[in-house]
Amino acid sequence: MIVLSAFALWAGAASFVARKFNAAGVVTLPTESFLRGGEGKVLDLGAGTGRSSIMVLKARPKATLVASDLFGESFNAHFGEQGTPQERLMANLRAAGVADRATVAQADMRKLPFGDASFDAVVSAYAVDHLGRNGSELALKEALRVVKPGGDFLLILVANDRWMKFSYGPILSHGGTRGAEWWKPRAEGAGFQTLEIGGTPGTLYLLLRRPGGV
Ligand SMILES: C[S@@+](CC[C@H](N)C(=O)[O-])C[C@H]1O[C@@H](n2cnc3c(N)ncnc32)[C@H](O)[C@@H]1O
Repeated sequence: MIVLSAFALWAGAASFVARKFNAAGVVTLPTESFLRGGEGKVLDLGAGTGRSSIMVLKARPKATLVASDLFGESFNAHFGEQGTPQERLMANLRAAGVADRATVAQADMRKLPFGDASFDAVVSAYAVDHLGRNGSELALKEALRVVKPGGDFLLILVANDRWMKFSYGPILSHGGTRGAEWWKPRAEGAGFQTLEIGGTPGTLYLLLRRPGGV
């Protein structure tokens, strides 16, 4: 009985922490340095139901954005199968009042259907870390290819910090142990410069930049 009660208590607290800091929490731009000029065309990799796209469009009211996602099994696993994914994403963008500056695209971030240097900035939140090591490296290279020289890539990841360890314990998912020490050399190996590394509870972010530009 004591064991069951302790488990129930942990499950409730863990679910609260995971939802608050990650799964369902509203996300705010973790760094004001992203797209500092405020304008331009942004690509969201793994937009899901729109949370990260809304984050950027609200924080940068002059920017436009392409919300891209594979809309495959991973989407259904995270968000369920009600309605078409694209409609759900658009409905959330409309509800947030930012749909007029957004379009939706089906795209695999490991092989993007966009031209070289076609975006001013790229963002991805809690998505690249779903891909495994090879997939993550491919996505980093694709992000570099599609962003203009001098453009930012804001890479937001699930942190393997004490909050997430408490919530997910031994079954910590999302690449688990891959912290900044794993991501920074891979991002730089893909060709990015690292401008900033930081975090909030449950979240790790790297602000990267493609070298070049004015
Ligand atoms: C945890 S959700 C994050 C959604 C959103 N960025 C957010 O912050 O709420 C991860 C998303 O990545 C998408 N995804 C997974 N693999 C992908 C891939 N290879 N290419 C594009 N999107 C992918 C999934 O469909 C899912 O919508």
